[in-house]
Amino acid sequence: MCGIVGYIGPYQASDFLVEGLRRLEYRGYDSSGVVTIDDGEFTVTKSTGRVDDLVEKLKAHPARGSIGLGHTRWATHGPATEVNAHPHIGGDNVVALVHNGVIENFRELKQQLAERGYYCKSATDTEVVAQLVASEIDARCTAPNGAASNAAFSAADRYSALVDAVQAALSQLRGTYGLAMVFRDWPDVIIVARLGSPLVIGVGDDEHFVASDGSPLVGHTDRIVYLADHELAVVTTHSIRVIHRDEGDVRHKVNRLDIDTTQVELGGFPHYMLKEIFEQPETVTAAIRGRLNRDEATAVFGGLNLTAQQLRSIDRVVLTACGTSWHSALVGEYMIESFARIPVEVEYASELRYRNPPMSPHTVLFAITQSGETIDTLAALREMKRKGHPTLAICNVVGSTIAREADGGIYLHAGPEVGVASTKAYTSQCVVMALLALYFGRMRDLSFDAGLRIIDELAALPKYVEESLECNNETRRIAAKYAACNNFLYLGRQFNFPTALEGALKLKEISYIHAEGYPAAEMKHGPIALVDKHTPSVFIVPQGGVYSKVIANMEEIKARGGPVIAVVDKDDSQAVELADEVIHIPTVPEFLQPIVAAIPLQLLAYHAATFRGCDVDKPRNLAKSVTVE
Ligand code: M6R
Repeated sequence: MCGIVGYIGPYQASDFLVEGLRRLEYRGYDSSGVVTIDDGEFTVTKSTGRVDDLVEKLKAHPARGSIGLGHTRWATHGPATEVNAHPHIGGDNVVALVHNGVIENFRELKQQLAERGYYCKSATDTEVVAQLVASEIDARCTAPNGAASNAAFSAADRYSALVDAVQAALSQLRGTYGLAMVFRDWPDVIIVARLGSPLVIGVGDDEHFVASDGSPLVGHTDRIVYLADHELAVVTTHSIRVIHRDEGDVRHKVNRLDIDTTQVELGGFPHYMLKEIFEQPETVTAAIRGRLNRDEATAVFGGLNLTAQQLRSIDRVVLTACGTSWHSALVGEYMIESFARIPVEVEYASELRYRNPPMSPHTVLFAITQSGETIDTLAALREMKRKGHPTLAICNVVGSTIAREADGGIYLHAGPEVGVASTKAYTSQCVVMALLALYFGRMRDLSFDAGLRIIDELAALPKYVEESLECNNETRRIAAKYAACNNFLYLGRQFNFPTALEGALKLKEISYIHAEGYPAAEMKHGPIALVDKHTPSVFIVPQGGVYSKVIANMEEIKARGGPVIAVVDKDDSQAVELADEVIHIPTVPEFLQPIVAAIPLQLLAYHAATFRGCDVDKPRNLAKSVTVE
């Protein structure tokens, strides 16, 4: 939530800042702003709304200067107004600062600062940090006559006084932050700091970039430094100095950023969401690649980092996540319990972090997350780690906080997911769940033959995903017919109960149509009261153990005049007779149904949203990466 960019080097900063903000807009789009330093003065430009609005302002009044910061906001404290937009200025133009996170003690600090003559103009928690940094700089670096005491310090002293001032300010903050700041009297340095919110530094040739994640760096550099919690970095055109709060100066590692330009561009699609839906044959392939071992009839993972002894002694698996990733955890529960017979519990990360459920010492935790930055998932992982449980991440973003803090893990390799509604990451998470179920199963009761059969089925999956996409035109037609409805039910059972939840979430988050996902039989215990001719029910009803039961549930809806949209196997005969609309998916084994059935539901939501004129990639009130509690 909130995106940060920064530039220092020989070129005009605003070019990178604007381009970077566009790439980070998925993190929030309530307002945006940039600051540059030109001729010793800050130039601040802010706008409510999208980065496009900011660009219009910058066209009229260009922001010159070869050092600068940018920010795209997801509002937490204070509405989306220009005064609340970042950057915020501290003191008498002493510092300009952008922030991602939440400062929990901002009210106390605000009052203390006001008593010392530092007043905040905005309703944000962030401005307090700017005023605090300014007050610390003024206290340490200002000559008795009030002017910044450049002359009074040697060059080295000036920088160390500045770093001391920033550290003193940071030490007073409670909460989370990714911060980037520039200083009127130190126009050749950006200071960044992180605690709980991501920040990276891109290493160019005689230039440096700052960003909330690697995507703005693509096309500029493939060398990236991940800042850790409690680290602060002093970034100049030619150098990076990283200082840890407790350890002092630390060596920073320069990693390789493995994203190419085509992965962050639309490539002819009208929206990222549609592009990402259509990427699924490749992303599913990437999740499977190199992970099937036919000789042993099992899955292989490079990075679990658990001993054979630890793996064998696991007696309980806890899967924790938020949102769509939580739905993939539910799919994983069905898969792991049926292949490996290990008890699985699926926990909302936001609940698990504050619970203290009894857990055997041999419980292992998997944190499932596309971004690797979701604050609740991170906190749940830390909590379980603290209690001595092995923690593993199933994650898409390489180098993300959760990927780095977990003891080990499995990457999705789905490439950057830009659309706020998760699509390809979800199906890749389900694939990894299937691989894990196979892996644990083969360590326990699953026979060689059964393992081999699962491998064959997984190997054929990309072809089935490709086939599922053939329903695009049909889902578009159905979406056009029902897009005006205000309520939908999504119903499925067993493996497809999570599919129903995921279908409902997709529809509501991008089209703002109220939708509820339910186990099909549970619908009789309440939601059936919603059924009327304006409330379509989407049934996920492919062949399987509960097929005839779901057909009976469908009859119950039909008897009450509710329109039925059925997602069925190619060779279905009963559901097609009952349903008003039919979407065909390929016939696959039950454990793979959540993957192939998710695709028509993604498309249905996408088309419904476009018919309703919604901003598909940037739905209102949402941000892709939820880094605040
Ligand atoms: O990055 P994560 O997978 O941890 O994100 C979790 C949720 O915020 C995310 O899945 C959210 O529900 C999506 N908007 C769903 O499309």
